[in-house]
Amino acid sequence: MNLSILGVPMDLGAGRRGVDMGPGALRNARLNAALRGLGHHVTDLGDVAVTIPETVDKLEQSGLIFRDSILGACTETYRRLSALDADTFPISLGGDHSVSMGTVPGASHGRRTGLIWVDAHTDYNTPASSPSGNIHGMPVAHLTGLGDPGLSSIGGANWRVHPEDVVMIGIRSVDSAERELVKQAGIKVYTMKDVDTLGVSRITSETLERLSGVERLHVSFDADALDPSVCPGVGTPVLGGLSYREGHLLMELLAESRRVTSLDIVEVNPTLDTRNTTAEVMVGMAASLLGQRIM
Ligand code: ARG
Ligand code: MN
Ligand code: MN
Ligand code: MN
Repeated sequence: MNLSILGVPMDLGAGRRGVDMGPGALRNARLNAALRGLGHHVTDLGDVAVTIPETVDKLEQSGLIFRDSILGACTETYRRLSALDADTFPISLGGDHSVSMGTVPGASHGRRTGLIWVDAHTDYNTPASSPSGNIHGMPVAHLTGLGDPGLSSIGGANWRVHPEDVVMIGIRSVDSAERELVKQAGIKVYTMKDVDTLGVSRITSETLERLSGVERLHVSFDADALDPSVCPGVGTPVLGGLSYREGHLLMELLAESRRVTSLDIVEVNPTLDTRNTTAEVMVGMAASLLGQRIM
């Protein structure tokens, strides 16, 4: 397969600094070599230009934290991915999770897209519901058309992800107003309780069945979906996450389906990590999604 890697070194959407170093940490953990070793043709597109937070006023023009700079970087991300052939598989490296407001529409090429959101968090706050004001807690809401009109139309005025085409896996931290929004939207959520009771195998087959009508399938993998004992280098750790094997099994089963068309790896924070472990684990997850097998 032709794979294109795009870094989005942005920490403007997170409450803590340091995820802007995620793309460097993932490349340092030999992402490109791992994917080439699986037989793929890998092109690294480099990084999108992102505003340095110290150079602008935090509330910018909009009053929403770094909203204008985030909109700029996500719009550029959208343009870079849209310019690829539809049969090229893009892997976007965050950066905080707000990058997905650009990667998902960019990888979609205007088509109906299923979104598998692997995360401790639902990231379904709007500017009005968010207790933190951090935009990395809001990308899915914007992708489905809620919230700030600029952030919700990066893929064009008419394109959006339909809430029935979103499946979230690994969830264990949801704000109270956010919970109501997720329920109202009708998004399918597999919490950690569901992971414990149903198992990843059944969850993955139900997910693929539910998303059988979409043309594109995007996996957005937040490193904090995995347990902090596996991925310590994240800004918003929550105990009780996916085990190392549960993460791999999910990726392995999605790989077997041959239906996934794009991937994000986000929220890797080298300043909070131990010897680049989190980046190394996430490179392994990407390799499993792109066909690495045990036998
Ligand atoms: N729900 C919290 C908020 O809105 C945390 C979001 C964490 N999101 C993430 N991508 N790590 O601020
Ligand atoms: Mn997230
Ligand atoms: Mn998260
Ligand atoms: Mn478990």
